[in-house]
Amino acid sequence: MASLLFLLFLAVFSSAALFLIRRARYRRLRLPPGSLGLPFIGETLQLISAYKSENPEPFIDHRVTRYGPIFTTHVFGEPTVFSADPETNRFILLNEGKLFDCSYPGSISNLLGKHSLLLMKGSLHKRMHSLTMSFANSTIIKDHLLVDIDRLIRLNLDSWTDRVLLMEEAKKITFELTVKQLMSFDPGEWTEFLRKEYVMVIEGFFTLPLPLFSTTYRRAIKARTKVAEALTLIVRERRSDTEKRSDMLGALMASGDHFSDEQIVDFMLALLVAGYETTSTIMTLAVKFLTENPLALAQLKVRTHARTHILRSSCSRLFSEEHEEIRSKKDDPEASVEWSDYKSMAFTQCVVNETLRMANIIGGIFRRATTDINIKGGYTIPKGWKVFASFRAVHLNTDYFKDARTFNPWRWQNKSEAGSPGNVYTPFGGGPRLCPGYELARVVLSVFLHRMVTRFSWVPAEEDKLVYFPTTRTQKRYPIIVKRRDESTPCRVL
Ligand code: HEM
Repeated sequence: MASLLFLLFLAVFSSAALFLIRRARYRRLRLPPGSLGLPFIGETLQLISAYKSENPEPFIDHRVTRYGPIFTTHVFGEPTVFSADPETNRFILLNEGKLFDCSYPGSISNLLGKHSLLLMKGSLHKRMHSLTMSFANSTIIKDHLLVDIDRLIRLNLDSWTDRVLLMEEAKKITFELTVKQLMSFDPGEWTEFLRKEYVMVIEGFFTLPLPLFSTTYRRAIKARTKVAEALTLIVRERRSDTEKRSDMLGALMASGDHFSDEQIVDFMLALLVAGYETTSTIMTLAVKFLTENPLALAQLKVRTHARTHILRSSCSRLFSEEHEEIRSKKDDPEASVEWSDYKSMAFTQCVVNETLRMANIIGGIFRRATTDINIKGGYTIPKGWKVFASFRAVHLNTDYFKDARTFNPWRWQNKSEAGSPGNVYTPFGGGPRLCPGYELARVVLSVFLHRMVTRFSWVPAEEDKLVYFPTTRTQKRYPIIVKRRDESTPCRVL
């Protein structure tokens, strides 16, 4: 009993000593101003309740007003420095692997697998990142991927009638496209099996990584094993296959790096994860924003002959329509979208930019300081602390974007905003971890919008709100009623 009491005393004493030593160190370091909130939970509950609402901005706005654009808080069990400052965000992004390391919650890292690109560090990360970039660059998209992107989108839209849950449909399309790009499989029974298991893995990302307490997490671990087994079989089959294929798996095998089966499987899983929620959400939200802004939808169909005219034009027929024009150039309306068609979608690119800016699917990135780091304002981020570079706070700041909280695709025709410095507009991050799928996501979204506006008119089936925790999404998966257009009907929201 006495030794138990002694151990208890020792534990309490050493925790208290550690706490005091740390506090003294933090006092010396000049931390950014802020509040660490309540013991243990810090300000996590305030953050979650803000991001579960339609308007999460006050969480950051209040703190920026009180403390400035760099402030300290305590969320998800750790003290964290938040940056709403573009220059500091850029500093954080560019110093990945030097002063900062990427940092994901335990639930995500366990399910991704240790060879995932998202978790890799050092020279292997550099190598794999550039391999991924080379796989999804514009030449590859133009020469190999575009035709399947368009075909699989059309195939999915063929089955749409009446009420459609847009978010679900977008997820299905995104998954099928990624599987096709990774390993050349067309949608079928096998891909559906894989998708069902995979969805369970994704659900596990947003739960506590405690198998004893969470059924969702246990299910996710089992599903991860099944997905990995299925992918391993494909990798093995491919190793004994003599036919060369121009997909990601083919590129990995031909790279001369002699990756193991496990490395390739983890890598493919990471790509499935990275493009899935992001691309499908941007597809859904672009449609939602356009539906709520009929003028922009009308303009989407208007080709940009002259920037100045566009700024002044309404949805009048002064201009031929952007997507109608692409369709009208083809004898067969089902003929494939070509690279030149994609390149001619000028206003669509404004819609893509603006949707990415407003939706902020990846609202920012967490990193961990690997050493004490001096930052702007003379502050120090202590070694081991987390930092959060908030892209969202910058994208929605009126100092950088006029009427920043309004959806306005026309701003991207305005030179001063469209030409904003690279650290102000960062939906795809930057530095060594710049999203390798940035061009691919833009192409998928543009082709999807093209097929959607030229095939359907639609109306929201019910009111659906945007929320931002644990991910950006609409509460009801954005149900819409679609009506197939005949050739003569102009595209419009019903
Ligand atoms: C609208 C769609 C997308 C958005 C907004 C987006 C955004 C981002 C952001 C902000 C990062 C940086 C994360 C960090 O710095 O920690 C990232 C990384 C990544 N993205 Fe995307 N992404 C999108 C689509 C895609 C697609 C289609 C792919 C598929 C190729 C993809 C693959 C990746 C990968 C593999 C990484 C990790 C890179 C690394 O850690 O080196 N993303 N993405």
